[in-house]
Amino acid sequence: MDEIKIIITVNFGLEAVVKRELLNLGYDNLTVEDGRVELVGTLRDIAILNLRLRTAERILIKLASFEALTFEELFDKTFELDWREIISKDGNFLVQGRSAKSKLFSVSDSQRIVEKAIIKKLQTKYDIETFSKSEERYKLEVALYKDIATITLDTSGDGLHKRGYREMAYKAPISETIAASMVMLSYWNDERMLCDPFCGSGTIPIEAAMIAKNIAPGITRHFDSEKFMFMDENIYKEERAKCYSEIDYDKKLQIFASDISYRAISVAKANAEILGLEEDINFFVKDIRELDLPDDYGVIITNPPYGVRIGGDETEELEVELGKLYKSIPTWSLYAISSDESFERNFGKKSNRNRKLYNGRIKTYYYQYYGPRPLKD
Ligand SMILES: C[S@@+](CC[C@H](N)C(=O)[O-])C[C@H]1O[C@@H](n2cnc3c(N)ncnc32)[C@H](O)[C@@H]1O
Repeated sequence: MDEIKIIITVNFGLEAVVKRELLNLGYDNLTVEDGRVELVGTLRDIAILNLRLRTAERILIKLASFEALTFEELFDKTFELDWREIISKDGNFLVQGRSAKSKLFSVSDSQRIVEKAIIKKLQTKYDIETFSKSEERYKLEVALYKDIATITLDTSGDGLHKRGYREMAYKAPISETIAASMVMLSYWNDERMLCDPFCGSGTIPIEAAMIAKNIAPGITRHFDSEKFMFMDENIYKEERAKCYSEIDYDKKLQIFASDISYRAISVAKANAEILGLEEDINFFVKDIRELDLPDDYGVIITNPPYGVRIGGDETEELEVELGKLYKSIPTWSLYAISSDESFERNFGKKSNRNRKLYNGRIKTYYYQYYGPRPLKD
């Protein structure tokens, strides 16, 4: 596999953020569409993207794309691919499916046909009848859209939001990729104070600390493609070692993270410890009504409780409290994600910018309030 067509799947609303990350990593030949970015790369790029992208969801290989109006066509064109070079004898493969606006609308039938064609092809090399249950997992997908079948192989395995540090979660944790995007969309930099007064499991402050110390998000986890038969095992080793060598261990940070719940704070501390960030983030138990912050050009990035996920009636009151806190620190900037459309009214101020983001399937708004620029910036 020399030239690989790579598809990076992205949460709706974050395409531009992922594009910016890719440009910073030196990739410039990009095709950006809703929910995805495509580029052409190598096996090494697969490892780099899995290890380093903070705001993307998955890295897929586009194996084939062809018109399929009948199951016969779907079978034949799938069979044409040389699966013997892709899946080993012990390969534990599974095929998922999707279909929209296509003659072949039955997803289960399409999955079955693709599976059959793959097994038939593999049988020309190996003596296999059943699926293996080995750890060498190949997650495939056949997606039919307007009669075009696209077959992809997922190189990530678990989604990229699974960094490996959030062993425990408190109540409604935000996705790690959204948390990283919130930080990257803000004007925060590591010279400024950062505070998350509703920190829960600590996702936002932990992602911020990882960005500031240049800790690659995938450094402590594994990816399905590490075990693929066509992956050179040294590639991941080398790329992971490079990521470790780039960590800025000495970077001093001023990150504060509080929550009303003792349990949340102990979960957040335990998560930070997994990455060795326990000294970098100052976690403490505090009701937002009692939080006192120095008026020194800091940045609040937070995910206040909202009824849909937490089930409480306090949404409005806590948004009012957040607004009061912000009023007391006029040099600060504030960024809050919420699915509450009346957030601005309760907060008491219209945001400078409001961006639609999807946290999983939940439509949310990223409300952004810009404070003055720090004098030293
Ligand atoms: C939506 S969750 C935050 C989730 C967090 N971003 C994460 O990734 O885990 C909201 C948090 O607000 C906290 N909270 C509720 N009322 C509070 C209050 N009065 N003061 C401070 N924190 C509060 C809850 O304990 C909960 O952890």
